[in-house]
Amino acid sequence: MAKWEDNIAPCDCGYNENKELALFLMGQYEKVLDFGCGPGRLTQVFDKEDYVGYERELDLWNRAKVKNPTYLFSNELPPAGCGDDLLLSYTVFVHMTDFEIKHVLRHFNPKRICIVEILGRQWRTRGGFPPVYNRDPLDYVKLLSKYNLTKQHKMKHEHYSKKKGRDVFMSYLLWELK
Ligand SMILES: C[S@@+](CC[C@H](N)C(=O)[O-])C[C@H]1O[C@@H](n2cnc3c(N)ncnc32)[C@H](O)[C@@H]1O
Repeated sequence: MAKWEDNIAPCDCGYNENKELALFLMGQYEKVLDFGCGPGRLTQVFDKEDYVGYERELDLWNRAKVKNPTYLFSNELPPAGCGDDLLLSYTVFVHMTDFEIKHVLRHFNPKRICIVEILGRQWRTRGGFPPVYNRDPLDYVKLLSKYNLTKQHKMKHEHYSKKKGRDVFMSYLLWELK
């Protein structure tokens, strides 16, 4: 059976993802919930006092803890208070249906949401594992109707650009409650 563990390969995006995320979020949050933190690749962008990582896949949760032993990680959906400031979705919402995202946002009601992923329905694939629901920016404007898009940025992703034979960008979107 396909597992998330097999689908998180370090890939050469051509830039330093931790540095780019740190610069994008500088001064934009007090606490962060790294929703779907995977193996804790990005954890050290944040101070441990400000950070909770949530990962529902056991293998990945264990890897995150081993890689970042002084940080807090949960294997169950954390209480709402853990995600009420900034909820980070780093290539996670792209794997979730609108229904699933709405459920998460109802639970945490975060002041801010940071989404990092490849935008554009042209990249959406049908079936297979993991599911991929790349959205257009307008899809997110509709889905996140309680939020304003306050900051955005994009970086060319070398690995996917080579694979697809055309420029593919990783988009960084910051949303704030209206
Ligand atoms: C591509 S990985 C990204 C992991 C991490 N954010 C990173 O950038 O290294 C996608 C993650 O989303 C999580 N995920 C996928 N669907 C989810 C859902 N419906 N609810 C919670 N987590 C989910 C998976 O367990 C996986 O860790």
